[in-house]
Amino acid sequence: MIILVLNGPNLSRLGKREPSIYGTRTLADIHQALMQTFSTITFEFFQSEHEGALIEKLFAAEDEGRIQGVVLNAGALTHTSIALRDAIASTQLPVVEVHLSNIFAREPFRQRSVISEVCIGVISGFGETSYHLGVQALIAHLQKAKR
Ligand code: DQA
Repeated sequence: MIILVLNGPNLSRLGKREPSIYGTRTLADIHQALMQTFSTITFEFFQSEHEGALIEKLFAAEDEGRIQGVVLNAGALTHTSIALRDAIASTQLPVVEVHLSNIFAREPFRQRSVISEVCIGVISGFGETSYHLGVQALIAHLQKAKR
């Protein structure tokens, strides 16, 4: 099973970015821990500050046919990007939306996600564990789909 972990703008700054909200672990630390915890899964990791690059990665993942599903932290694009939403809606790949912080307990502009509706589910507020829960949920979804 190959899972794509896709991260949007500013997540490259984890570790030094607003640590009281996002913690002190870097994105590389988070990726490392995922590989350790889910040792039978092959991961592909991609981060970009650019909306179009994330969309292109999603399309490439679908077209190449190797990747079975996506765990996505779209960062602030979560709240604004109809283009990303349309891209998710256009693919057959299941996408789990994850957030480190609880977006529903933050500023009003963060409480709305324009991508949730086209994702298979949302995990928000568990810090790094959100990624682990996202992977777990995606695996369960993929195994159920196989049956
Ligand atoms: C975030 C929440 C977003 O509102 C914010 O713009 C981010 C990170 C999170 O993981 O908590 O960049 O997606």
